[in-house]
Amino acid sequence: MSNLNQKDIQKHLTTSILGRKIICLDMVNSTNSEAKSRAPEAVEGTIILSEEQTAGRGRHGRQWISPKGKGIWMSLILRPRINAQKVPQITQIAAAALFLALNQMGIKKVEIKWPNDILVNGRKLSGILTEMQSKGNAVDHVILGIGLNVNMNRQDFPEDLQQQATSLYLETGKVWGRSQLIAEIINAFEPLYMQYVKAGDLSSTLNICKEESAVIGARVLLHNQNLEQEAEVLDLGPEGELIVRTADGTITSIVTGEVSLRVLH
Ligand code: ATP
Ligand code: BTN
Repeated sequence: MSNLNQKDIQKHLTTSILGRKIICLDMVNSTNSEAKSRAPEAVEGTIILSEEQTAGRGRHGRQWISPKGKGIWMSLILRPRINAQKVPQITQIAAAALFLALNQMGIKKVEIKWPNDILVNGRKLSGILTEMQSKGNAVDHVILGIGLNVNMNRQDFPEDLQQQATSLYLETGKVWGRSQLIAEIINAFEPLYMQYVKAGDLSSTLNICKEESAVIGARVLLHNQNLEQEAEVLDLGPEGELIVRTADGTITSIVTGEVSLRVLH
């Protein structure tokens, strides 16, 4: 499998802002950390990719397995003029874009597990880690990190993940080129992102996130620090928040991040 390079990815790009500069590296600790340190000098839409991450991160500082050449480990540097509390909405936009891109590439049974996971056949194919730097309440930049397992075998995952995680190879039995896939993700992301930053319009994203949700209508276990409780997921609200009904009948919305969800069967 050949290494990623800017030219092969740009061949497939139809965007006007995102992906004008694509930096392809061999090895980094985390593309999100690399993007963060390069952000002060970077133009909006700069993309950092690495063949391998030695300390790939998920939410809550969890480890993200990122073996060499077998996945898409990438971070986009964005400069949306939004308030810090709106940043989780960028995760929703990315989830919708991943759904569209995978569909476009012929991958079916893709679902979005709010807020940051993409599942295929119920297993985790991709995860999103959105980080930001703000000055007061105003965002300076956002680092949108996307990990997508492309050509990983079962053995590339540690044992405890083998039942939960998947890759395009495992789902389709076929080895995938990564360049077009990367471009399709960016191509799908840009219009949704532009609608949002120019017009404050999250409606297309929300329609996709609702329609393709793995959790709406499901019973879930909400986990927040030391607190666990069961709930039924009712809907997504207009800001991308999760609306749930807890066991005592109370309807509440969960804005983001601090809560983890496990779907109960
Ligand atoms: P949450 O719902 O809180 O996001 P999560 O199960 O999605 O919980 P994350 O916090 O997103 O977990 O952290 C990433 C998790 O993904 C790790 O704990 C690990 O179990 C799993 N993981 C790590 N590397 C991979 C990978 N390459 N593919 C799929 N899953 C992975
Ligand atoms: C999650 O599911 O918790 C999110 C995983 C995000 C992984 C990607 S890989 C590229 C970028 N760099 C990182 O260290 N993490 C994100």
